[in-house]
Amino acid sequence: MLSFRPFFILLSAALASALNSTLTQVTDALVNNPTNIYFGDTPYAQLADEYANFIVVYPSTPNSDNCWDVSSTASLTRDGGGDSTGIASMVQYAKDTWGVPADKVFVTGTSSGGMMTNVLAATYPDVFAAGVVYSGVAAGCFASDSSTVDAWNSTCALGDAIGTSEQWASIVHDMYPGYTGTYPRMQEYHGDADEWIFPQNLEEEVKQWAGVFGYNANAPGQVQADAPSAGYTKSVYGESLQGILAEGVGHTVPVQGEEDLRWFGII
Ligand SMILES: *[C@@H]1O[C@H](CO)[C@@H](O)[C@H](O)[C@H]1NC(C)=O
Ligand SMILES: *[C@@H]1O[C@H](CO)[C@@H](O)[C@H](O)[C@H]1NC(C)=O
Repeated sequence: MLSFRPFFILLSAALASALNSTLTQVTDALVNNPTNIYFGDTPYAQLADEYANFIVVYPSTPNSDNCWDVSSTASLTRDGGGDSTGIASMVQYAKDTWGVPADKVFVTGTSSGGMMTNVLAATYPDVFAAGVVYSGVAAGCFASDSSTVDAWNSTCALGDAIGTSEQWASIVHDMYPGYTGTYPRMQEYHGDADEWIFPQNLEEEVKQWAGVFGYNANAPGQVQADAPSAGYTKSVYGESLQGILAEGVGHTVPVQGEEDLRWFGII
């Protein structure tokens, strides 16, 4: 049984009136988190109005500190009934209600939302086609020994939770055992001056998804300077994984907006 969490959905003005008349508008959906912060502080709402070809869903966290639960076994398990399941149920609602195609659902988030983006990619790989993570940690890195909901994990935050590609990939696979399909294409951003979620976490995220995709985390095929903007270094490990280190940037990396939409194939 899937449980709903509070959320709202942004439809661009043009799309909303099209929906009013046809109710069959087929579009892309972008799931974004967390609610208020992301609605006000990121360009997605404006971009949805401008491009008028996608819907944004802003789930709101039920936890008092406004962070997503990325620590309990429930949230780190497919259909475990935690926050990840709540978000997946919102996606299902959007698909059922607006005819969003199954292969055009994307996820992004910052900090706790970035952590949740990796968790969603691991627990619901069949739901999301691609993800963009800002200042997050590898899926499972914030796991709580006692399965506490929304627990802080200082070992992970300080960059002391180090794993091999194989270890991190098996954590992903354990979140949805038996799944043999494809995983979402992932872009991972981190600031090299992040003193809250240490930049070592970018390496761990890259190792994790490199392990899942069968790439070599130590040997990106391509390294681009000043991409997507000045002072950012983009490492391309394969068509499904990019890691982007933002020089001199702390917690959090500014959301790239149109660059994200390009990664998702929306524009
Ligand atoms: C949809 O239709 C209702 C009823 O006609 C109207 O009140 C509402 O403003 C319309 N919404 C949009 C976004 O056009
Ligand atoms: C924090 O997470 C790591 C895995 O990244 C785990 O080994 C450790 O036990 C966790 N710490 C607590 C206090 O739960």
